[in-house]
Amino acid sequence: MAPTSTVERAIEDVPVAGARCLEAGAGAGNMTAALREAGAGAVVAVTDDRDHAAGVRDRFESERPAVLEADLRSTPLSDDSVSIVTAHALFNVLTPAIVPAIADELTRVARPGARLVVDDYDSIPHDGLRGLFAAENAAAELADGAPALTFYPAAHLRACFEARGWRFERERSLLEPVPWTADLLDAHADLARESAARLDGPLAEALEADVTRRRDELGDGIDTGRMYSLAFRLTT
Ligand SMILES: C[S@@+](CC[C@H](N)C(=O)[O-])C[C@H]1O[C@@H](n2cnc3c(N)ncnc32)[C@H](O)[C@@H]1O
Repeated sequence: MAPTSTVERAIEDVPVAGARCLEAGAGAGNMTAALREAGAGAVVAVTDDRDHAAGVRDRFESERPAVLEADLRSTPLSDDSVSIVTAHALFNVLTPAIVPAIADELTRVARPGARLVVDDYDSIPHDGLRGLFAAENAAAELADGAPALTFYPAAHLRACFEARGWRFERERSLLEPVPWTADLLDAHADLARESAARLDGPLAEALEADVTRRRDELGDGIDTGRMYSLAFRLTT
């Protein structure tokens, strides 16, 4: 039997078969693939990134899921229209300022009795990796006025959804430790340098050099931290 992937494990106790699902934050389409594999009746994948939307459409060329390019703060779905909502590695790319609006929207589009699965990362325990993400955030703060990444404790996201009528059902670990591979570290370093390059003068150069040094110190990758999965049911 093929080994079960992280996204498959996140939804293995969720009744996906036949359900209309919203994948909030389509990214590379990994959770969209797992939902389809688990027999979802329909999957609507939403992202605000044009390249991600195009990538997910290409990935499922023959049987395309609905991929919508939109901001989840105004999710383009009707009230009470989905039975499953997934947010796999979405919240770490959301600033604290927009989390409440997105949590409201994920709740609005969910039918009474719907399930919600939220997967994300605990704060990073490894000093060197935390330093790389801190440099990425510093560059993003200076270039765009907002951090690139925020690692919310599971208890924070649990409270955020319980306050909106979602009954907490379970928490489990999906990855422990998380394999932060060389490719992932390179991608983060590239994003950080892109932000730094939008600044002028010596600060840009200093930040770019700092990011490169921090990335190099992490070598072939680092296994650290935890990805958790929270499941809820909408009671109202
Ligand atoms: C790390 S990826 C998620 C990975 C994905 N769930 C998967 O399984 O492959 C985060 C996604 O959320 C999207 N995103 C971030 N903020 C958003 C917003 N306000 N509205 C819509 N999509 C957003 C990003 O563009 C990206 O596609």
